[in-house]
Formats: sequence, C-alpha cells, structure tokens
Amino acid sequence: MKILVTGGAGYIGSHTCVELLDAGYEVVVVDNLYNASAKSIDRIKEITGRDLTFYEADILDFDKMDEIFAKEQVDCVIHFAGLKAVGESVAKPLEYYKNNINGTLVLCEVMRKNGCKNIIFSSSATVYGDPAFIPITEECPKGTPTNPYGWTKHMIEQILTDFHTADSEWNVILLRYFNPIGAHKSGLIGEDPKGIPNNLLPYVAQVAIGKLPCLGVFGDDYDTPDGTGVRDYIHVVDLAVGHVKAINKIKENPGVKIYNLGTGNGYSVLDVVKAFSKACGHEVPYEIKPRRPGDISTCYADASLAKKELGWEAQYGIDEMCADSWRWQSMNPNGYDD
Ligand code: NAD
Ligand code: UD1
Repeated sequence: MKILVTGGAGYIGSHTCVELLDAGYEVVVVDNLYNASAKSIDRIKEITGRDLTFYEADILDFDKMDEIFAKEQVDCVIHFAGLKAVGESVAKPLEYYKNNINGTLVLCEVMRKNGCKNIIFSSSATVYGDPAFIPITEECPKGTPTNPYGWTKHMIEQILTDFHTADSEWNVILLRYFNPIGAHKSGLIGEDPKGIPNNLLPYVAQVAIGKLPCLGVFGDDYDTPDGTGVRDYIHVVDLAVGHVKAINKIKENPGVKIYNLGTGNGYSVLDVVKAFSKACGHEVPYEIKPRRPGDISTCYADASLAKKELGWEAQYGIDEMCADSWRWQSMNPNGYDD
C-alpha cells in the first residue's frame, strides 16, 4: 500500500514516516520545506534503512500535485501539511486560511481526480475549545476556537465530513492530537522550531541547553493541583504509531471516524519542568508570569475509543518524553541547521 504524507518532513510527519516504513508501507512525502529541512528526509532513511520518495512541492500547486498523484497511484493520504503557530495565525489570518483551508481543498480535488478518497487528517484538541467536560471524549462538543489556526482545524474537519456525506466512497479519519512532545529514540529527528518557541517543551529544552535564560510559567492561579496549566502530553512516536493504526482502520472503509490521540494523563507545567530537570541532569530555571491569553486550565483526553477501535494505546510516560526531547536537543543544539 502506498501512503502519501503531506508535511512529511515536519515534526510529526517525519516520525510517522519512520513508523510507516517500519510497518512495510511505501511512502511518498510532499513538503514545501516552509517549516522543515530536507535533512529530516535523510534521517528518516538512516533510521529505517529504507527508501522513500520525496517531492519538494506545495499542496496549493494543483498541477504539480496532479502530476504526483498520477505518477504515484496513492492509496491513502495522511495530511499533516499546514501552518500551526497559534499567535502568528492571529496576526496573519489570510495566510493561515489560505494555506490550511485552500491547501486541503486543492489536495482533495487532486485526490478525487485521481481516484484516491482515503484521508487521515491532523486535527487537534484545540477544536474542543474550553472543554465542556474532562477527560475529553470524542462526544465532547466542539467549542469556539479563539484563533484562526483553531478555526482551520474546526473547518477542515467539517469540510472532510461533508465530502463523505456527498460521496460515501470518501473515508475520513480525524485524529485529534493532544500535546505531542518528545523525539525519536535515535536523537536523529525531532521538533525544530524556528525562532523563539511558543510551545512549552521546545522552550524548556532551549532553556535547559542554555539558549534561553529562563522559562516563563504562564500563570500559577489555575484551578489545578499546583495552580499551573495541565495538559495531556503524548510522545510523538506514540502519536506516529496511531497513524499506522488509523491506516488499518481506513482499509475497512469506515466512513468518517474521529479519535482522540492522548495518554489520558494530565501533567502540570511544573510537573514537566521537574521531569525535564531530571532528564537533563540540572534544574531548569523558571519564573511565574501572568496567564497567557486564550489558555485554558486543564485539558486531557479520554483515549478509550482509540484503544477499542484502533487497538492503539500510548506506551510512553512523561519521563521518557522528556529524556527523548533532551537527547534530540543535546545532539542537535541548532536543530537541523549545522
Ligand atoms: P510542522 O510544521 O513540523 O509540519 C508541518 C509540515 O507541513 C512542515 O514540514 C511544512 O514545511 C509543511 N507545509 C506547510 N505548508 C505546506 C504546503 N502548503 N505545502 C507543502 N507542505 C507544507 O508541524 P507538526 O507539529 O509536525 O504538525 C503537523 C500537523 O499536525 C499540522 O497540521 C498541525 O497543525 C497538526 N497538529 C500539531 C500539533 C503540535 O503540537 N505539533 C498539535 C495538534 C495538531
Ligand atoms: C497550544 C495551542 C493549541 C495547539 C497546541 C499544539 C495555544 C493557546 N494553544 O496548546 O491550539 O494545538 O499548542 O501543541 O497556544 N506554557 C508556559 N510557558 C511557555 C509555554 C507554555 O507556561 O513558555 C504553558 C501553557 O500556559 C500551557 C502549557 O504550558 O499551560 C502547554 O502550552 P503549549 O505547549 O503552548 O500548548 P497548548 O497551549 O496546550
């Protein structure tokens, strides 16, 4: 079976390519390298000892995508390509809607033209907004996104669902990720944010290695055990394996399916700082700052549906996530840059 992975040179995409190749799938990556390095493709090959086909192309380019699909005879698409910085999306809504929504529409038009109607989409727990209940099941109503990035996930979920309503040959699996962190055990691939990181883990890792002086903890007055925000951090390799399981599911022609990919455990910001300090062997300095606008107090998954229907369950705990993040950060202090 041949799987086309959009955004396959990126953080989650590269880890998923490793698991796909290890599971024996043929892999075709399309990535415009806007937020990735071609080196990640070499590293995927190095880790797996297997080959894949890489196209440096933009999913908005209909003709190029059509050419790729005509040539490759793809069975299923895993669609990671998109812009993902929440704050930036508030400043650049046009770029976010164009890239994420138009990109998905072009991709799906090309898929339809070439007779491929199986798609697994990277959604996010952000679609739950401030969740109506916790732990969050897939039954939890979608909330109101607070930023254009969140709206693109919300809308693309609806768009893909509508495709299936109009044509039952479409199979759509929406995977709602909680907070992916960690890196491959080899230390060869990992998250390589450009500029100052927005997300907690890359920020902590850069403080730990001395590139940034101190972590700001955004609020210690939430209704949580230690007052800091609680999230469901999930090892990126567990997340990647979830995609391989989703391919097994899509082979059953399931129509539209939605799964939470999380561990079911909530950890606070200070829990993460503690686990990371243990991993890197020294204290990570932090100071308490005001709450970050748009943040919620607590978010963690009920991932029992993925266990029941996909036979998938997260294997790694917070200590391994931090140890693997640290290995990647310390082996590659400047990410994929020399
Ligand atoms: P990433 O930025 O590392 O990967 C996205 C990849 O898509 C990059 O390699 C980028 O170059 C590529 N890309 C972007 N626009 C493109 C276009 N028009 N054509 C071709 N390639 C394009 O991000 P990631 O963390 O690996 O996230 C992957 C997906 O998962 C995204 O859709 C993201 O929104 C979603 N997601 C991520 C998280 C997270 O915390 N990382 C959480 C929930 C959902
Ligand atoms: C954020 C996005 C979410 C996206 C997800 C991807 C926001 C509001 N939400 O989620 O839409 O899907 O990333 O992973 O940006 N924190 C600090 N200091 C920091 C950074 C973060 O204390 O320097 C805290 C936050 O307040 C939060 C926790 O760490 O409690 C996790 O933050 P982050 O990694 O940014 O993820 P989310 O906010 O959960």
